[in-house]
Amino acid sequence: MKRGGRLVSVPLVEPELSNEEMILSFLAEGGADFISGATLSDKLGLSRTAVWKHVESLRKLGYTIEAQPARGYRLLQVPDRLTELEIAPMLSTRDLGRTLHHFDELPSTNVKAFELAHEGALHGEVIIAELQTAGKGRRGRAWVSPAGKNLSISIILRPEIAPARAPELTLLAAVALAETISEAGVDAQIKWPNDVQVDGRKVAGILTELSADPERVHFVILGIGVNLNTELEDFPAELRDVATSLLLVRKQHVPRALFTAALLTRLEVWLETWQAEGFEPVRAAWKKASSTLGQDVLVRSESSELRGVAEDIDASGALILNSGDVRHRILAGDVEQVRGRKA
Ligand code: BTN
Repeated sequence: MKRGGRLVSVPLVEPELSNEEMILSFLAEGGADFISGATLSDKLGLSRTAVWKHVESLRKLGYTIEAQPARGYRLLQVPDRLTELEIAPMLSTRDLGRTLHHFDELPSTNVKAFELAHEGALHGEVIIAELQTAGKGRRGRAWVSPAGKNLSISIILRPEIAPARAPELTLLAAVALAETISEAGVDAQIKWPNDVQVDGRKVAGILTELSADPERVHFVILGIGVNLNTELEDFPAELRDVATSLLLVRKQHVPRALFTAALLTRLEVWLETWQAEGFEPVRAAWKKASSTLGQDVLVRSESSELRGVAEDIDASGALILNSGDVRHRILAGDVEQVRGRKA
């Protein structure tokens, strides 16, 4: 069996949380219950006054924390931001997202991730921007998303694999993404190679870029954009029929930090499966979530257009298209379902 590449992860040490992060995770664990000041000061080894000061700094950052003299503290509301402070208390990963670079604005998180990886950033480091001014989509297109409503994230991976195996990671990410969206209560499908759709409309996209020499990958940048809380008027008119957001479908605001933590957790679980068992389980999950297989489709690439039945994806993630007389193996392109003619 061909196993997944070894992932160069950081040594297993308990991630260091700041006092604010620790207070937040205790309060989050407590849910609607109060946690007494004495409990917090025991758990953190801090004085009651120091605990109170940290609670004050959290309030300044936008956290609503109720305090009652006889009962203690409880968390009522968290700000809708995607910094380490909001995400770390909800993360249950070993590597992914343990170092998180948050920016209010960047040209593109993928470009920043590339820079950081070249400077030695480790496997699992994550870059998030509230706004991208030059967000990159597949095949040279732009990725546009309103500030502070969605998720624009790039994850640095350091798998020990040959470059030909990099597409496996894109399909793996699509599976993790579709599962996270489904877990958020919205049934999602994958359109080959890696558009995630809800009711036939695009809700998320993945752009994988890599630095490699002919024998081995140095690092992979997994860039993921998810329309979480985009409202209809945020979409340009030409996209309103083809794109959607989780908010528009489930009619309920998506807590972005929770979604991000859930996505990173699923990604890490899939990366571990891929590392231990190879691409086959990823391929099986991808096929199960696919809206492309079995359909009569048109595949457009830079130089050609092919029509046929999308039969399968092979062991390297290529699409197998049956055009009647020939079976084509397609590595890149855009798929369009031919309406009115189902295979
Ligand atoms: C596509 O479907 O065309 C891929 C879209 C990928 C967009 C994400 S947003 C975060 C990351 N940074 C970028 O510049 N692009 C990816």
